[in-house]
Amino acid sequence: MKKLIAGNWKMNGTLESSVALASFIGNGIRTEPDLTEKCDFLVCPPFVYLQAVADIVDSHEVAVGGQDCSDQDDGAYTGDVSTAMLKDLECEYVILGHSERRQYHQESNDSVQSKAQKALIEGLKVIICVGETLEQREDGQAEEVVGSQLAGSLPHGATSLNTVIAYEPVWAIGTGKSATADDIKAMHAFIREKLDNNADFRILYGGSVKPGNAGEILSIPNVDGALIGGASLHAEDFLNIAKAA
Ligand code: PGA
Repeated sequence: MKKLIAGNWKMNGTLESSVALASFIGNGIRTEPDLTEKCDFLVCPPFVYLQAVADIVDSHEVAVGGQDCSDQDDGAYTGDVSTAMLKDLECEYVILGHSERRQYHQESNDSVQSKAQKALIEGLKVIICVGETLEQREDGQAEEVVGSQLAGSLPHGATSLNTVIAYEPVWAIGTGKSATADDIKAMHAFIREKLDNNADFRILYGGSVKPGNAGEILSIPNVDGALIGGASLHAEDFLNIAKAA
């Protein structure tokens, strides 16, 4: 299985910097054909820059995705973005249930599942994020939390073709402190087992992935790619993570 190297740009950048980042990534991939043989690429810019980024990258080389979506078709939902709007802008993926959405927007497993359902109907692929907090890990509840997030957030009809799981321990996101190889190995094996041992589902790891630790992380069994925040804002780091795979 090819590794999925996915960049979550979060709420960063300007129109100019987003276009520059996208073209640097596109050019980098084009000059190293090896990369697309081994990896699939995805970038998820802020909504307002999706069109500009989609115009720059070749969708066969770099897919584009949203960072969230609504579970409603359309109507009076100020600030929300529908799945049809994402499709309109050539998005292939949408990230759902990121811990920052769960934390700052009080998203529950139910709402993540409902959004995911809507996204699948629209023909988008979903990346469902799960992960425990430091407190939950220290209390020995990491597997219980991740297990219930999976059970509650995965859409009905999820298959390896339309759904990707991202394990992102909350305490490793943006902290520079990634989980240990043993912790990642154990949690990814646990998630694989929860997916009825389905070997085809991609399970990404996210949380302070950088060029320096990507080689080790991406060689752990059941790690099928990475969801990258901070390092995905630097084209060279993003590409070097893929090279490490
Ligand atoms: P990070 O973010 O790579 O900056 O830790 C990962 C994520 O939130 O997806």
